[in-house]
Amino acid sequence: MRGAVYYPPCGAAARLLAPVDPWLGRRTTLGAAFVVLSAVKPTLRAEPGEAAPSLRHETPSPESPRPNSLNFYERWMLPPLLDRVMRQSQLEKYRREVIAPARGRVLEIGVGSGLNFPFYGAQVEMVVGVDPSPRLLALAQRRAADAGVKAELVEGTASALPLADRSIDTIVMTWTLCSIPDPLLALREMRRVLKPDGRLLFIEHGLCPEKGVEFWQHRLTPAWRHVSGGCQLDRKMDDLIRAAGFELTELRHPYAEGPRIFTYMYEG
Ligand SMILES: C[S@@+](CC[C@H](N)C(=O)[O-])C[C@H]1O[C@@H](n2cnc3c(N)ncnc32)[C@H](O)[C@@H]1O
Repeated sequence: MRGAVYYPPCGAAARLLAPVDPWLGRRTTLGAAFVVLSAVKPTLRAEPGEAAPSLRHETPSPESPRPNSLNFYERWMLPPLLDRVMRQSQLEKYRREVIAPARGRVLEIGVGSGLNFPFYGAQVEMVVGVDPSPRLLALAQRRAADAGVKAELVEGTASALPLADRSIDTIVMTWTLCSIPDPLLALREMRRVLKPDGRLLFIEHGLCPEKGVEFWQHRLTPAWRHVSGGCQLDRKMDDLIRAAGFELTELRHPYAEGPRIFTYMYEG
């Protein structure tokens, strides 16, 4: 059935933490499989201040990425959960909608397990995918190959992109800005690498204008971010995007299915 409830990573983390969760055994086995998989298929990696292997000619940002700062939970346990949660079918219609205008050289911020790759069209030349998680990048590499998308996957952070100024035609960001520790710095980096006529295409969950929902988003975020890979429920995404100097030409606020603290969307 389409339209499963949208739980961000945090929901999955909560399930993992439940002692009687029937998922626990399966998740752990899956995690071990990813360890082996990523050892066999290493992803490209940008060391702090260094460009990705095929991007070495480009100017790295002076900011230092933190690819090694993931804790044990974020490195080994969260990736299979994220992949599982983000695979839910109700998100596909948003992925399709947001990605349709992508063209040229695309940068995907927080590429995760590569769930957007099937939605890139022929007008996309290549996708540079940045993510701090090597486990997720290993999955993304497989999905790019399956979708026939030319992709370069880089272990790093959106706050220090190993790309030259004005070198990207389209930036795609789906449910990622909530987890980036310094979203404004990351958005400024995105502006730096985007060509003047380039576009940022995004869908994010964030602060809901309903007072009751907003109250709970603020209340729950401090605990939530610890089990969710840093996911903040109460970011006002449009303000952040504007503050970084982007002009918002379109902004929609669909509600996905599920509890409203997670499902108020910012799409543009
Ligand atoms: C909820 S997942 C979404 C993944 C993917 N965009 C999708 O739509 O399936 C959030 C992603 O943000 C990534 N992320 C967290 N911090 C980041 C950072 N500083 N820079 C780039 N990506 C980051 C996580 O590793 C994870 O892959």
